[in-house]
Amino acid sequence: MTNEGYHRPVMVREVVALLVRRAGIYVDGTLGGAGHSLAILQALREDGFERDSFLIGIDQDRFAIGEAENKLAPLHERVRLVQGNFRDIAGIVKDVRDSGLPGMTVAGIVLDLGVSSFQIDTPERGFSYLRAGPLDMRMNPEGELSASDIVNTYEERELADIFFRYGEEKKSRRIAGAVCAWRRERGGINSTEELASIVRHAVKEPEQQIKTLARVFQALRVAVNDELGVLEAVLKNGVECLGLLGRMAVISYHSLEDRMVKQFFRQLATDDWGPRGVGLREPLHRAAFRLVTRKPVVAGDEEVERNSRARSAKLRVIEKQASLVESPGNVWT
Ligand SMILES: C[S@@+](CC[C@H](N)C(=O)[O-])C[C@H]1O[C@@H](n2cnc3c(N)ncnc32)[C@H](O)[C@@H]1O
Repeated sequence: MTNEGYHRPVMVREVVALLVRRAGIYVDGTLGGAGHSLAILQALREDGFERDSFLIGIDQDRFAIGEAENKLAPLHERVRLVQGNFRDIAGIVKDVRDSGLPGMTVAGIVLDLGVSSFQIDTPERGFSYLRAGPLDMRMNPEGELSASDIVNTYEERELADIFFRYGEEKKSRRIAGAVCAWRRERGGINSTEELASIVRHAVKEPEQQIKTLARVFQALRVAVNDELGVLEAVLKNGVECLGLLGRMAVISYHSLEDRMVKQFFRQLATDDWGPRGVGLREPLHRAAFRLVTRKPVVAGDEEVERNSRARSAKLRVIEKQASLVESPGNVWT
């Protein structure tokens, strides 16, 4: 069972070691080529949890669902694949539970954010400045907004905002100006090559061009797929789904995502001491979650050497504690 052709999964050993601890429902919110899903299912079998476990695989890309269906076909009785957005995790889990898994709680959720190698390497998807293709960048090929819509219709100020906020690009205004000038002169921007050429011309310094291209393409991808909005939603909705001692593992690939995961997990794992100076011996409320990883886990040198994608990966894991039993929002325990 290999997944290498479609996508080489990152930190599989680490994810399995930190996530698979008990029987229950496991949700892979970013199924891709099913590398993490297969490893989770394998670990459940080896640990004797298989009979009482179930895996839900979610991806918004129908090509990923098709790929994973082939790989997971022999295990179909214990697996359900859903084409959808992971921000809707709560409804998806509820539907699957209601259709035949009464009483089974969610033991683990994994999110391996971003795009797959298959998506980046397919020129027609338009994710890469290295491949000639249409300016698309939709992870969900049926999605409404494409990168072409953004670069051809957004105002200069909005474009600069996107490059700055989602790509942390310092020359955001200059690049937005160049995009709009090109639009005025030639009527539109239609391909990855055209956009890459505009960026190269706007950034004169050759040594900065590659990094700027990466930041501009990242920014557009984040905007097209509302990546920060859906991440915020899946973090909130995901932890609500977890059963007692259930864990959520998130692998992020850039600082905007990692910051969001770090802050969200820290906040959940912090006791509430009420207003300062009250002098309590005990916190008003004990944190309902525990940080399993105080610092992010990163890939080892050997993996980074084999898979350059692993270089920027950061894995963080949180666990729902027993004290959450009383929480009214904890619908799945
Ligand atoms: C990095 S790949 C995951 C690779 C996978 N872990 C594997 O082992 O092959 C990310 C996948 O998540 C999907 N994805 C990203 N954001 C999503 C979202 N908001 N909802 C559903 N799927 C999403 C992408 O379409 C892509 O297939």
